[in-house]
Amino acid sequence: MMIDKQAQLKQAAARHALSLVKDDMILGLGTGSTTAFFIDFLGEALQSGRLKNIVGVPTSERTAQRARELGIPLTTLDQVDYLHLAVDGADEVDPDLNLIKGLGKALLREKLVEVHARQFWVIVDERKLVARLGERGPLPVEILPFAHEATVRWLNGLSGCRAELWLREDGEPWVTDNGHYLARCWFEAGISDPETLGRTLNNWPGVIEHGLFLGMASGVIVASADGVRVL
Ligand code: A5P
Repeated sequence: MMIDKQAQLKQAAARHALSLVKDDMILGLGTGSTTAFFIDFLGEALQSGRLKNIVGVPTSERTAQRARELGIPLTTLDQVDYLHLAVDGADEVDPDLNLIKGLGKALLREKLVEVHARQFWVIVDERKLVARLGERGPLPVEILPFAHEATVRWLNGLSGCRAELWLREDGEPWVTDNGHYLARCWFEAGISDPETLGRTLNNWPGVIEHGLFLGMASGVIVASADGVRVL
């Protein structure tokens, strides 16, 4: 089967991440097209017996379903004290390894799972590397359906932010696995102060969680045409 260049890079990053997995680990399983390759490789390794006694904590219903199809045993955060390792993709990675995540619509469970991991490794292709977060695409924000228009209006009032409710093709709002809506916030010149923006968002009652993952990544595996490197 022919796969495109981008998919090959995602596979290369995912394959490298598999080398971090050891027998008996409890793993956080991310969401998105890059992590989907990691989950496929993990499934293969379990089926062939190369890895044993792995349990996964999925970050979305989509990931849980794929893991089940591949025979990867699953558990929940409630059942474990911590995760040994979480592996997930990202939408943007800055030079300090701060991330934007959530364009796969799973940011809340991703963040909750990944804060419980002793190691959180990010797998990306080189297109995701940015000088400043927000320069490549929007910041996703999970919001409460109640008064969501008021929340989007408030987001639009934040300095430099143009926000809108994230709609499906049929014009209805996307509903997350948690029953919430999503907004997308564009920052024309990127996000000048992610820490302050993150705190401001967390303090607003209509905001459930945002896609800024600051100081969380243990490392980033970047695949490019020249090979895989680790940041
Ligand atoms: C899911 O909500 C996201 O955080 C993904 O991890 C992110 O969008 C990266 O996805 P891709 O690997 O598909 O680019």
